[in-house]
Amino acid sequence: MAFSPQACLFDLDGVIVDTAKYHFTGWQRLAEELGVPFDHADNEQLKGVSRVGSLEYILSKGGLVLDNDTKVRLMDRKNQQYLELVASMTPEELFPGVLAFIDELRSQGIKVGLGSSSRNAPLILERCNITDRFDVIVDGNSITFSKPDPEVFLKGARALGVEPAQCVVFEDAVSGIQAAHNGGFRVIGVGDGARLKEAECVISGFADFSLAVMVDKLS
Ligand code: BG6
Ligand code: MG
Repeated sequence: MAFSPQACLFDLDGVIVDTAKYHFTGWQRLAEELGVPFDHADNEQLKGVSRVGSLEYILSKGGLVLDNDTKVRLMDRKNQQYLELVASMTPEELFPGVLAFIDELRSQGIKVGLGSSSRNAPLILERCNITDRFDVIVDGNSITFSKPDPEVFLKGARALGVEPAQCVVFEDAVSGIQAAHNGGFRVIGVGDGARLKEAECVISGFADFSLAVMVDKLS
């Protein structure tokens, strides 16, 4: 029988908009200042991970132990750099096809939610002019546990009134795919198939994607 989705939950950074590169730049600068090597492989580990979890990863990689005030100062600095990088963002930085796909879902009565670890998610949605496309927004300000904990998606599904099994999560992070699985969601990886092999299927982007293709892939 064909799968009949009731809702879709989208991660933000790296799925809807290319902000993952700005997070990378911010963390890499900070790691360099601390004398900790940081490359794209490290960044993959940090996708979907909270701000504090990301700092802890870098400190642990460098064998560094810092007091709490210093950690807060470093996180604030990284965030200031991130905010400077996204300050000039426009809707043109949305990934090709993603808005058309979201609008198709909405026109077919399928609910749309955001499930992001980022505390900056509301700002990014505003900058891209897409806040009103989401029936629910769950972000880093409203969760206690970071991906791969399923909290962010479970809160989204609950707010939308749908069961996880009837809900599709779109994710570019390994931790996000694990979070979706841990919550009992269907999950489509967005990005590199080899890296995201834990997803049920992987798409390179939304340019040639549609509701019919999604149903076909998940049925
Ligand atoms: C996730 C990103 O969406 O949000 C991570 O994948 C980022 O790279 C995390 O560190 C936290 O973001 P923020 O904006 O709250 O610092
Ligand atoms: Mg992401």
